[in-house]
Amino acid sequence: MSPATKSASKSAPKSVPKKAAAQSPQPKATTPPADGIHPGSLLSITQLSLEEVSNILALAERLAGEPLSKHATLLENRKLALLFYESSTRTRTSFELAAKSLGAMTTLVSDKSSSIEKGESLKDTGLTLRALGAECIILRHNASGSPYLLAKHTGLPVLNAGDGMHEHPSQALLDLRTILSRLGKKQAVTETTLDGITVCITGDILHSRVARSNALLLPRLGAKVILCGPQQLLPPEAVDLSPGITLERDFDKALQQSQVAMMLRIQKERLAGMQIDLADYQKQYQLNEDRYFKHAPNAVVMHPGPMIRGLEITADIADGPSSAIEEQVRNGLAIRMALLARALNGGAA
Ligand code: CP
Repeated sequence: MSPATKSASKSAPKSVPKKAAAQSPQPKATTPPADGIHPGSLLSITQLSLEEVSNILALAERLAGEPLSKHATLLENRKLALLFYESSTRTRTSFELAAKSLGAMTTLVSDKSSSIEKGESLKDTGLTLRALGAECIILRHNASGSPYLLAKHTGLPVLNAGDGMHEHPSQALLDLRTILSRLGKKQAVTETTLDGITVCITGDILHSRVARSNALLLPRLGAKVILCGPQQLLPPEAVDLSPGITLERDFDKALQQSQVAMMLRIQKERLAGMQIDLADYQKQYQLNEDRYFKHAPNAVVMHPGPMIRGLEITADIADGPSSAIEEQVRNGLAIRMALLARALNGGAA
């Protein structure tokens, strides 16, 4: 364990499989960040009220719909650091392009080409970035809870770009924008916006911060969330993550009830010795044409990426007309512009 990981782990919230977390389902009300945390931070999806979610969605909608020139100076000369301890394509690139399209300056610090490799802690890395003028840090880290530690020690707005098996709040927001748009719903959300809608999230729930953030958000808008996967990748305690969640081992049955099918990758990098029979997994949990047209022919197909084509999803489905996967990526840019404006401008745009 690296020093950064060690120090980050101290304040790490519990991840999906931990019983203690399961026994304390997240409340419907919001959980504001603790004292000392900059209010522009986004550490967990649970810190946002539905009004704040609506404001972020509205700002994303506006920024995405207007010409670049209209917001090109919104964050002019503001300095942002992208601090990435894990690989990323979508999240890193979209935060960077979002920042640049608002006129901000960005710098990328990766664990593989910085003094983190020499053992510098997360706290010291954050303080160094602050001393160099960073006004906001976007953090991806393998330790759950690390964004809290960074936000506490730097006092800067910190945007959680994925922390271990804990949360990926900006992904949940871009997924929500995608679901609302695909279902023809308004972007101003309430507790009943997704009444009558079932979203099944299928695959490696155990290791998925995307599943966790979505499962904490969607039921607050009235959606039913079905978590689906084999025992090894979906512990029974996951049902207690939030009210409005059910577990289903049979993927066909889950699909039959769903208007949205969100597929997840098996996270080989987090399996830690766990043996998964991939041929059996594919047989039971792959979203392919046969299964889709038999059980959920109208469902919106989603995947946060990266996809492993031929394992959890086939190419014909991923590239088919029901797939919203590229739309998710595009929505990432709009949502992240809104989150940066919120972090640095209090949401004014
Ligand atoms: N969805 C997502 O977090 O993808 P990246 O790992 O490529 O950022």
